[in-house]
Amino acid sequence: MYTPDSSRYRKISYRRCGKSGILLPIISLGLWHNFGDITPFGVQREILRSAFDNGITHFDLANNYGPPYGEAERNFGIHMDRDFSPYRDELIISTKAGYDMWPGPYGDHGSRKYLMASLDQSLKRMHLDYVDIFYHHRPDPNTPIEETMQALHDIVKSGKALYVGISNYNTEQAAVAIDTLKSMGTHMLIHQPNYSMLNRSIEHSLTGRLTEKGVGCIAFGPLAGGKLTARYLNGIPSDSRAAHDPRFLRPSDITDELLIKIRKLNEIAQNRSQTLAQMALAWTLRNDCVTSALIGASKPEQVIENVKAMENSHFSEEELAAIDNILAGKY
Ligand SMILES: NC(=O)c1ccc[n+]([C@@H]2O[C@H](COP(=O)([O-])OP(=O)(O)OC[C@H]3O[C@@H](n4cnc5c(N)ncnc54)[C@H](OP(=O)(O)O)[C@@H]3O)[C@@H](O)[C@H]2O)c1
Repeated sequence: MYTPDSSRYRKISYRRCGKSGILLPIISLGLWHNFGDITPFGVQREILRSAFDNGITHFDLANNYGPPYGEAERNFGIHMDRDFSPYRDELIISTKAGYDMWPGPYGDHGSRKYLMASLDQSLKRMHLDYVDIFYHHRPDPNTPIEETMQALHDIVKSGKALYVGISNYNTEQAAVAIDTLKSMGTHMLIHQPNYSMLNRSIEHSLTGRLTEKGVGCIAFGPLAGGKLTARYLNGIPSDSRAAHDPRFLRPSDITDELLIKIRKLNEIAQNRSQTLAQMALAWTLRNDCVTSALIGASKPEQVIENVKAMENSHFSEEELAAIDNILAGKY
């Protein structure tokens, strides 16, 4: 029987998600990796428990997280039944559809047919009546945006999702989607783009547009899959993502040039009395537009370390300039 830490809500802070009633923890946990059939069930349970015990109230999934596709939702459904169902009203659970999920023309992209069917499947796998946030996972240039947004609007009306969001849309695509949904009477709660020290593209215009439109922003991959941590400072450990699950991070991605940057960033983190992972998260969250940093974790210890990122959240002008120079390769 799991009893969550009674002090959990004192361990993390929460930020308002755009102009909405929802507060998200500054660190949220994603189940993209480490919740499929290659991770022991007990490890998954300890990661989820350590997150909730530390005040992380937001778990992020998608239809095709695994491996195999659907398995992360299926496992999460079991963890819900065993540990978290008494706390359903304390949780923000999200899922998505937009990438390939099942064969044939109706299991991918942005049609009403796909989104409606996929959400029904996700709810069954997770043993939930509703999700808190349902996302369109990526823009689909071949489906009229009105069709995709109408599906999101109708999903909110049906009660199967309380809020909706978009992911991986660029600034112009996001603005059109947000306005189209608004014209139907539904507010876009949140955008989920990639954002880290190694990918700053949202800083050009997306963050400004989201702020202007009152839409929250949850930054996925703030540790660049582990590259912005101490993981690879001294080689490629056998239990790291690059070594054991190289679907999206290959050993060859740990280049000499990257290592020079990581080592220099690590020195700045040490001078700030924090780990590189903590500094990378605090840096992402220095951006006021970012509601939450959406991490992954392969061990409970990582969650615990990451939640402490904001113990030093202040960056001096000198530190920010030094980080900019390292990222630009000026050393
Ligand atoms: N919308 C989208 O298209 C999209 C795409 C990708 C991800 N996402 C979401 O974002 C979530 C996070 O993505 P991500 O897992 O790539 O994020 P990430 O936080 O950048 O990377 C997580 C990985 O970094 C390592 N790590 C974490 N904390 C650490 C620490 N303190 N010290 C050392 N290593 C640490 C772990 O790798 P090891 O396995 O090596 O320990 C962990 O699995 C996903 O689960 C998903 O919910 C969304």
